[in-house]
Amino acid sequence: MAGRIPQSFINELLARVDLVDIIDSRVPLKKAGRNYSACCPFHNEKTPSFSVNPDKQFYYCFGCGASGNALTFIMEYEGQEFVAAVEELAGQQGMEVPREASLGSNFNQNNELYETMEKVAAAYQLQLKHHPNSRKAIEYLKNRGLSGEIAKQYAIGYAPPDWQNLLGLEKDQKALQENLVKTGMMIKKDDGRAYDRFRDRIMFPIRNRRGQVLGFGGRVIDKGEPKYLNSPETVLFHKGRELYGIYEMRRQLRNIDQVIIVEGYMDVVALAQYGIYNAVATLGTATTSDHLLTLFRICPSIVFCFDGDKAGRAAALRALNHALPLLKEAREIRLMFLPEGEDPDSMVRNIGSESFLEQVQQATTLFDYLFEYLTSQVDMNTFEGPAKLVHLAKPFITEIKEPILLARFQQKLSQLTGLSEKQLESTLEPGDIDTQSQISQSGQNPPTYHNENPPPEYNTQGHQPQQTVETPPTAKPKQSERNKAPFRRAIALLLQYPDALPAADLGWLKPIEELGAQMLYEIYKLISNNEAATTAILVENWREKPEYPHLIKLANMELHADSENVHSELCEIFKRLEKNYLLDQWDRLTEKLRNGTVTGAEKDQLKQLQKAIYSK
Ligand code: UTP
Ligand code: MN
Repeated sequence: MAGRIPQSFINELLARVDLVDIIDSRVPLKKAGRNYSACCPFHNEKTPSFSVNPDKQFYYCFGCGASGNALTFIMEYEGQEFVAAVEELAGQQGMEVPREASLGSNFNQNNELYETMEKVAAAYQLQLKHHPNSRKAIEYLKNRGLSGEIAKQYAIGYAPPDWQNLLGLEKDQKALQENLVKTGMMIKKDDGRAYDRFRDRIMFPIRNRRGQVLGFGGRVIDKGEPKYLNSPETVLFHKGRELYGIYEMRRQLRNIDQVIIVEGYMDVVALAQYGIYNAVATLGTATTSDHLLTLFRICPSIVFCFDGDKAGRAAALRALNHALPLLKEAREIRLMFLPEGEDPDSMVRNIGSESFLEQVQQATTLFDYLFEYLTSQVDMNTFEGPAKLVHLAKPFITEIKEPILLARFQQKLSQLTGLSEKQLESTLEPGDIDTQSQISQSGQNPPTYHNENPPPEYNTQGHQPQQTVETPPTAKPKQSERNKAPFRRAIALLLQYPDALPAADLGWLKPIEELGAQMLYEIYKLISNNEAATTAILVENWREKPEYPHLIKLANMELHADSENVHSELCEIFKRLEKNYLLDQWDRLTEKLRNGTVTGAEKDQLKQLQKAIYSK
């Protein structure tokens, strides 16, 4: 028998597919606010009560209660087994379904890495303020017009010139070094020793949608090579998926109706300084479909902002290639070109935010640009002109998946060439040219950047303050039952708003045996380790467990929460739950103290508890 399909693959698969597409191709959907609706395919009805939520990637029928994710839909609609449904969806995505011999998970491992990165980012931020060498970094940022407030919002920091600065972060240097190497923050030499990758640089943390730090871009102060050093690809960081500034954008803006894609860290930060928060940057790579899909989940309109030079034009053409298949319905892509020698940073400083935004509004639509480009490549007044145009257009046409756009495109091509649409159709039989090759000929390849040289030895020391507290907690603890409702609420909130997960460490949940605590902890781990986690993905992890129906209920429950407040509500709940947990521990141990059965270790534990309860 074939082995189990790894859960991580199923999660990845669900992150790639779009439930709206999957259902729409079988049961035509109508847009209804944020959601889509149709008459339910699982029971007989005249008025639509079947609703598909694109954010949750989950469907729900108010009439018959049918509910689930893309896999559930395929299973129920096509009467397939789970594995067949996975294979069908994977096949459509061109993914091969892997099998595993045994169960395993790397959750805890990644959790530790996220924690390390968080500490690194905090240390860099602190060093920007206090390190004796950071003056020039601060001066530099000031000279570029950045306020302290923006620097703080983007958690900009400073990596000191030392070779082993980061090893001072924790006492257990061996474990720390391992994590720092895994996250690309240190580089290991053949002799087993390691040195900091980033030294004497201004540090831009790259955070995912949830604010977890995945990597860094480090800029030299003033002049030097390379100008930016970036984190390498690691288990946490994939350049092709991440966008610089996405977390900050979402935190700053309630409603995002358009996102601007720029090229540089400084562009994002400078635009924010001018109040334009809806900009994100790719990380020294071309825009990928993953990038675009991530942004389309946030809003329907994307504007690429390119430099006006040749490289900018080439980048635009490459972007076209990824963008065409993703265009449909309300989605829109526009392109904007800056004058030669300008980037968004310099531009917004020169002309101010109002004029800059006006230019954004006037950006060319993708299709207009495409036609502009195609017609610029041929002389339509020659006899061969039209044929050449059709030939050039062919590879692009095959990328257009949306029927209305395709029809419009052909119509326009027919107008331009004077060929009837019938005549065109016969010329446009399956394409033999490969768009990719055409594009890489006309474009430039993106530059690659290298690490700096290996260093000499250096060492730093960490230290930990000691403290004691004597007075007992004032709160009067009451055993158990404290937690039931808040667990349920927290689970439902996280299922429906995974992005609102606070950055808190919920490790304390682990030893609590109660089902609610266990589930909450599982969900927390899933979200922390999977930034694309949607309701659909979270629920999927329980498909074969008895709690599954219960989770489906929570996933569809009306929460009377608006997405704005979920984050703070969760913070509150976690705080309360943790305090309750500590109080329960306190009860248990003081009981033992009274009985005289308390051990020395437990006495120490009581002291720790006392401190902890006080600080909550
Ligand atoms: P730019 O050179 O346009 O960077 O490169 P920038 O953000 O405008 O920087 P400033 O204004 O000179 O400070 C655009 C992006 O390309 C990547 C970075 O992601 C940068 O933000 N890049 C550039 C590198 O990774 N390494 C480099 O050496 C240069
Ligand atoms: Mn710049």
